[in-house]
Amino acid sequence: MSQIQNTDPIIGQQFGNVVAQSILGRGGMGAVYLGYHPGLDMKVAIKLLPDLFVGKRELVERFLREARVSGKLQHPNIVRTLDVGQSHGVYYLIMEYVEGIDAQKLLDREGRFSPMRAINICGFVARALGEAHEQGVMHRDIKPANILIARDGKVKVTDFGLARSITNTATALTLSNQVVGTPNYMAPEQIKSMDVDARVDIYALGVTFCQFLTGQLPFDGPTPMATLLNVVNESLALPKEIFDPLPREMREAIVAMTAKDPRRRLPNIAAVLAVLKKARDALRKAGLDSTEPLKGPPRSSSPAIPSMGGSSGSFASRASTQLPRSSPDSFSKPLGSGPSTPPKPGGRKS
Ligand SMILES: Nc1ncnc2c1ncn2[C@@H]1O[C@H](COP(=O)(O)OP(=O)(O)OP(=O)(O)O)[C@@H](O)[C@H]1O
Ligand SMILES: [Mg+2]
Repeated sequence: MSQIQNTDPIIGQQFGNVVAQSILGRGGMGAVYLGYHPGLDMKVAIKLLPDLFVGKRELVERFLREARVSGKLQHPNIVRTLDVGQSHGVYYLIMEYVEGIDAQKLLDREGRFSPMRAINICGFVARALGEAHEQGVMHRDIKPANILIARDGKVKVTDFGLARSITNTATALTLSNQVVGTPNYMAPEQIKSMDVDARVDIYALGVTFCQFLTGQLPFDGPTPMATLLNVVNESLALPKEIFDPLPREMREAIVAMTAKDPRRRLPNIAAVLAVLKKARDALRKAGLDSTEPLKGPPRSSSPAIPSMGGSSGSFASRASTQLPRSSPDSFSKPLGSGPSTPPKPGGRKS
């Protein structure tokens, strides 16, 4: 294993004050490494941006501007940005390291989540979005891979504003023939190059909620373009076998969050929290409030599923027992005196 890691030229390199130690994962917008900050004596995550930044001054400036804005976000459910810079010709972002697992990996492992657990996770993501939207920051790439679940059960959203920083216009489409953002979670108005506002995050959270409950993406296709077409043209089909036994409030929450026309979608995060609370209350009433994994432990009892950061032991059972304890009610507290209408990109403080 260490031999494989040693072939990666990034390992051992310095980014600002931080030395890269091992890879945590790769996504559409670069790779994330575990690093150590000797001055602060703490582990950090280093996000390296892809080559498409090289020589693109406008993109780089936008990225730095976004990083400055999202770096100001301080919320228990948002991963802190600690530093940003350039080293060895690569742009990097130093973030708080969340030791745990991302929700996509947890979903891959467990198949799908219990309804109560899905609501709990989405509730914390909604609170993170509520804070960001109040500050005029949209996320624009909400999806399970950007939702980190710490070992102590805390839910933290990462990559705030990053998708916007590498899109050239208000659209989220192509750049150097690559799709920027994640097509399955893109709101129709993003795809159609219309004006977008914070309701794109509500849409993506609705898709994520649906995926948590069913284990499947509501809109998908063999290619990114086919997926985009399906998002725009196909109507939402929720599997009967999963939704029929659930209170209707679950279905209603997803439908309200994923309306194709943003004017028919839930207008703001306060409204999202209200429908999630309604769904949660209905689940409780129906006695469906277990947060245990639906499919039980992974097929193999071997430690085949690594926790992020390489610590020993299986995270699955701990995550499933600890998340509910982080006060399922806490996300339903009223939000601060934020705007009742979604912030426009123009309203950003950048
Ligand atoms: N702050 C962090 N702490 C710990 N692990 C992290 C952190 N940020 C990201 N990761 C891990 O690194 C993986 C890769 O992240 P990355 O953002 O590169 O990919 P992604 O989220 O799948 O796609 P995208 O590039 O669209 O965001 C994540 O899925 C997560 O497991
Ligand atoms: Mg990410």
